Amino acid sequence: MSKPKLVVTRELPEEAMHLLKEEADLYVWESESESIPRSVLLQEVQQATGIVTNVADSIDREVLDAAPHLRVVSTMAVGFDNIDVNTATQRGIAIGHTPGILTETTADLTFALLMATARRVVDGDRFVRNGEWKSWGPMLLTGQDIYGATIGIIGMGRIGEAVARRAAGFAMKLLYHNRSRRPEVEQKLGAEYRSLDELLAESDYVVLMAPGSPDTYRMIGAREISLMKRSAVFINTSRGTNVDEQALYQALKEKRIWAAGLDVFEQEPIRTDHPLLSLDNVVVLPHIGSASIATRTRMAVIAAKNALAGIRGERLLHTVNPEVYEA
Ligand code: DGY
Repeated sequence: MSKPKLVVTRELPEEAMHLLKEEADLYVWESESESIPRSVLLQEVQQATGIVTNVADSIDREVLDAAPHLRVVSTMAVGFDNIDVNTATQRGIAIGHTPGILTETTADLTFALLMATARRVVDGDRFVRNGEWKSWGPMLLTGQDIYGATIGIIGMGRIGEAVARRAAGFAMKLLYHNRSRRPEVEQKLGAEYRSLDELLAESDYVVLMAPGSPDTYRMIGAREISLMKRSAVFINTSRGTNVDEQALYQALKEKRIWAAGLDVFEQEPIRTDHPLLSLDNVVVLPHIGSASIATRTRMAVIAAKNALAGIRGERLLHTVNPEVYEA
C-alpha cells in the first residue's frame, strides 16, 4: 500500500527526516537557502495529506484550495500567522505548531539583541574590522546602561516572561503590558502592569513580544513611537507586521528614539535597499530568535511528530485549532 504524501517545504534535521520517511512518501524542497517556490508548492500539495512548513511559507486559502486531501499543516514554529487557520478549521484540517520548547532560546536571543543594540556591539565589531580603531577614546562607542534601567515588555506570554526573568537578573525595573494581567508574574518578578501608553513613556527598553495577528498589526506606529523616550531602545523579536516600519525608520533617522534591534520584518527577507538598513542605530538579524542547534532540532522533531499524528488521524501534540476534533 502506498504511504500518504507529505510535502516538506524545507529539509529538516536528520532526526526529523528519519521519522517522516518511515511513515510517509515525502516531497522535500531541498534548497539550503531558499523557500519553496509558490508554483512548486501549489503543484506538490495536490496529492498531499500533510504539509510540514515554516514561517517563510504562506499557507493561505489558495494553497488549501489546491490540496483537497489535506488533513494536517504542521509548522516548525510557535507562531502561525502565515497560515489561514479559519479556512483550515472549516475544512477539518488540523494545524500543528511547536510552543514551549523555543521559549528560553528566543528569550536568550531577545536579550542578546537588546544588549548588542544598547552597547553597540555590532558597531564596535565593524569599527575594529574597518581599521578605524586608532586609540582608546573617552566617549568612543558609548551606549546605554542596561543594569538598573527600566524595561517594558509588551506581550507577557511564555517568551515575555522568560525575558522578564533575564531582566530581573540585571536589576531592571520591570513593566509590562498584556491583554490580561499576570498576577503571578507581578508577584514572582515584581513586574508592574502599565497601559501601553504608560509603558512606552516610562521604559528605557521597549521589548515587543506580542504574537502576529490582525489585532496586533502595526500596533507600534508613529503615535506609539512618539511616546517613547529619546534615549529609548526598541527591540522586536515577535513579528515585523506588529510595527509600522516607515514610522520606525523616521523616528530612528531623526533620533527621536535612540536605537532599535530587529529580528523580524514586515517582508522577510528584508530588501537590502530598505531604508532601515541605511541607519547606524539599527541592529538587524535574519529572524533567528529560536535558532540554537538544540532548539531548532527539537522544533523539527515536534513538527514531524505533529505531521505524522495528523496523517494517522490522531490528535497532534500541539494543535492550534483543537476545534477540528469537536466536529
Ligand atoms: C516562531 O516560532 O514563531 C518563530 O518566529 C520561528 O522560530
